[in-house]
Amino acid sequence: MGAIGVLTAGGDCPGLNAAIRGVVTRLTAEGRTVIGIEEGWQGLMGGTTRPLTRDDVRGVLGRGGTILGTSRRDPYVHGNGFESLRETLEHLDIDAVIVIGGDGSLRTAARLHANGLQVVGVPKTIDNDIGHTDVSLGFHTAVQIVVDAIDRITTTAESHNRVMVVEVMGRTAGWIAAAGGMAGGAEAILVPEVEVDFEDLARRIKMRHTEGHDYSLVVVAEGTPGPSGQVASSGVDQFGFSRIGGVCHIVASEIERLTGFEARPVILGYLQRGGSPTAYDRILGTRFGVRAAEVAMGDESGVMVALRGDVIETVDLAAATAEPRNLDLERFHEAAWFFA
Ligand code: F6P
Repeated sequence: MGAIGVLTAGGDCPGLNAAIRGVVTRLTAEGRTVIGIEEGWQGLMGGTTRPLTRDDVRGVLGRGGTILGTSRRDPYVHGNGFESLRETLEHLDIDAVIVIGGDGSLRTAARLHANGLQVVGVPKTIDNDIGHTDVSLGFHTAVQIVVDAIDRITTTAESHNRVMVVEVMGRTAGWIAAAGGMAGGAEAILVPEVEVDFEDLARRIKMRHTEGHDYSLVVVAEGTPGPSGQVASSGVDQFGFSRIGGVCHIVASEIERLTGFEARPVILGYLQRGGSPTAYDRILGTRFGVRAAEVAMGDESGVMVALRGDVIETVDLAAATAEPRNLDLERFHEAAWFFA
């Protein structure tokens, strides 16, 4: 009986430590050896790992970030695929790897499964864009952070009679914007999944202001194209991934131009990924971690733990990551009843 490895890969989010704690506690209860792999796939590629005991995961349940570290390095992009991991896997006698990752990392896990490695995925991303699960770890906390910020931004918008344009993360999906905007009572929510009519947006904001509500709050998802149809970005990161962001500046200028009202952009950025997870994400991370450990101790591979209703199930990893899960438009339409 070999060891079981666990890693966190891709962008971090609150709740990762809860999941690691769940994995380690469940596995060590069965006397299994757990290897913590540092900095995502990088740790398997470079052999930077450490054993994890029950004691190593005490006190981490409510801590943000990941005690294992993370990175966007990928064995198929930056290495030789499965071959780049083989030495570490063999040297440490790792039988199975639990991958706590977003769609990119989980797609890599599915490829490694196809190459013969036993893998179990845990869906985590504030973007909530992984298929076949009702929700991903970290989303709930990110939405709460957005709502807390909107509550604060609204009072200053009101004092100054301004339009505040709040940009939230989500990459190509509008889940955070729709949920955060709805819970924060936004006057408009702009998401990549719904084409934005800027003239109509301006008309609605003007009407709201003439009716005596002379401030407005607009939430825009970072991946929403601006009036030119382009998604705002600032080049690529060191791994070649697009750095999406900045659309709120363009949207605020456009609103100013079309309405004549003062509009200010605010990017919430990495605040959405930092700090302590909500109770929901602590529980979800714990349940995902425990179940992933149980699956890894069996023969099943190429699966992902998923929340369906209130039940943790396993789903096919390749199917879950075949394409990003876009915002359910029903969510958008429900929020739209409250637009200006
Ligand atoms: O996928 C999570 C996410 O936070 C996206 O919402 C955002 O576009 C991206 O990661 C930022 O990535 P990085 O941490 O590499 O800047």
